[in-house]
Amino acid sequence: MSEAKRLAGEKAIEYVEDGMIVGVGTGSTVAFFIDALARLRHRIAGAVSSSEQSTQRLRSHGIEVLELNDTGPLPLYVDGADECDPHKRLIKGGGAALTREKIIAQASAKFVCIIDPGKRVDVLGRFPLPVEVIPMARSLVAREILALTGGQPVWRQGTTTDNGNWVLDIHGLAITDPVAMETAINQLPGVVSVGLFARRPADVVIVGGEPPLLL
Ligand code: A5P
Repeated sequence: MSEAKRLAGEKAIEYVEDGMIVGVGTGSTVAFFIDALARLRHRIAGAVSSSEQSTQRLRSHGIEVLELNDTGPLPLYVDGADECDPHKRLIKGGGAALTREKIIAQASAKFVCIIDPGKRVDVLGRFPLPVEVIPMARSLVAREILALTGGQPVWRQGTTTDNGNWVLDIHGLAITDPVAMETAINQLPGVVSVGLFARRPADVVIVGGEPPLLL
C-alpha cells in the first residue's frame, strides 16, 4: 500500500500553485506529499500544519510553517483519510489529529484527499470512528455515544492529542446518514470533534495507483 500512498501524494502536487500557503494534513500518505512539496519549497509561501508530526517534517525540508490565525482562508488543503465513501465523505483521525484537520479543512477552499485503494468503502464505519473528548468527559461521552449510535466506544489509552485531549474509537457502526451522525455527536457536551467529514467532505479524492484515479 505504501506505493499507492506515494503515488497519491505525488499526484496531489499538481494542485499546488506558485505563491500558495498550503494546508497540510497528517499521516503516512501525507508524508509522501510533504516530501514532494519540498521540491516546490521556494515557490510556495509556506504551509499550515495539522499536527506536530507534520510540522516537524515540513520544517525538516525547510518549509515555513505558519499559524492559521495569521493566514486567513487557505486555497488548498491536502490530507489523507481512514475511509472514503462514494460521496467523498470521510472518516479521519486514525492518527489522532482530527480536530486540527477539521479546522484546516473548513478554512480551505479546496480539500484534496489522498488515499490508497483500501480506504474506499460503500458505507462508512468499518474503521472505528474517532472522537476527541475533553478528558473529564470521557466516560460520559462514551455512555451517550453508546445510547445514541449503538456503537461500542473504546478509549484509545496512551494517546493524548496535540490539544491535550483523549480519543474514543467507536466500533461496530454502519453510518448510513453521516451528516446526521456528525451533527449529533458534535452536540454532546465534552466532545471536541468527531472524525466524520460529511458536512465538509473532500472536493477531490486521489486514489493512488498507476495511473492515479480521481473521484
Ligand atoms: C490523522 O489523524 C488521520 O486523519 C489520517 O489522515 C488518516 O489516519 C490517514 O492516515 P494514513 O495516510 O497514514 O493512512
